[in-house]
Amino acid sequence: MNDFAAPAHSHLPRHVAFIMDGNGRWATRRGLGRLLGHSQGVEAVRRVCEELVKLGVPYATFYAFSTENWQRPLEEVSGLFGLMRSYFKKELATIIEKGLRVRFIGDRRLGGKLEADLLALMEEVEAKTAHNTKLHVTFAINYSGRDELVRVMQGIAADAAAGKIVPEQVDAAAVEQRLDTHGLPAPDLMIRTSGEQRISNFLLWQLAYAEFYFCEVAWPDFQATHLQAALAAFAGRERRFGSVPAAVAA
Ligand code: FPP
Repeated sequence: MNDFAAPAHSHLPRHVAFIMDGNGRWATRRGLGRLLGHSQGVEAVRRVCEELVKLGVPYATFYAFSTENWQRPLEEVSGLFGLMRSYFKKELATIIEKGLRVRFIGDRRLGGKLEADLLALMEEVEAKTAHNTKLHVTFAINYSGRDELVRVMQGIAADAAAGKIVPEQVDAAAVEQRLDTHGLPAPDLMIRTSGEQRISNFLLWQLAYAEFYFCEVAWPDFQATHLQAALAAFAGRERRFGSVPAAVAA
């Protein structure tokens, strides 16, 4: 992953990460309960995946539930997990048929905050889609970038205590091997909907050289045309990865 993904001249991102913001406000503006916003958000995930397949973008990551989202009212939290459970149970056959490979990132330790039946469902979805290649979809659930990095550091400290690693071996590759996203390319583009311009503890290591794109539309209203506009903006960006423009280097 430390190859920083797509080469600078590539106009199509290899990996797009999404912060699906604005579900609650979308619902409130319509006099609806927040959960209805989230269920429309699931529809937007479906639409975006279809469009990514059409466009030939092979990797997508969606921020579905952060380690901070546990602070929300219990009703919203259990409603959100209900939506995820029913999506994965009802749609697994379609997901397989469409060639999507699904993975999850986040704290999945048994005895942690995620319930055992959901953890088992997540494993089933990963196992049953493991051979698919059309679109690699990652859902971040009970995830935050800081929490992921703390777990990486705990792993390194445990390996050091067991004599498996010495300080000189702790480099970027040693960190990446232990990230939840191990094996995935770094995102080239991060899209956040609903007008907020921050990364909210998402993929802190992996977004090091991603291009950011913020749009006003709320996630439930995010359409193929919005995705196409984001990709057009990405195509116009010059990525230098800390170097100088190609013309200067020549
Ligand atoms: C942010 O909007 C959205 C979330 C915290 C949850 C997003 C989750 C989904 C769309 C469901 C994911 C689905 C699957 C299948 C994994 P917000 O509630 O913070 O919006 P607000 O800022 O307007 O209140």
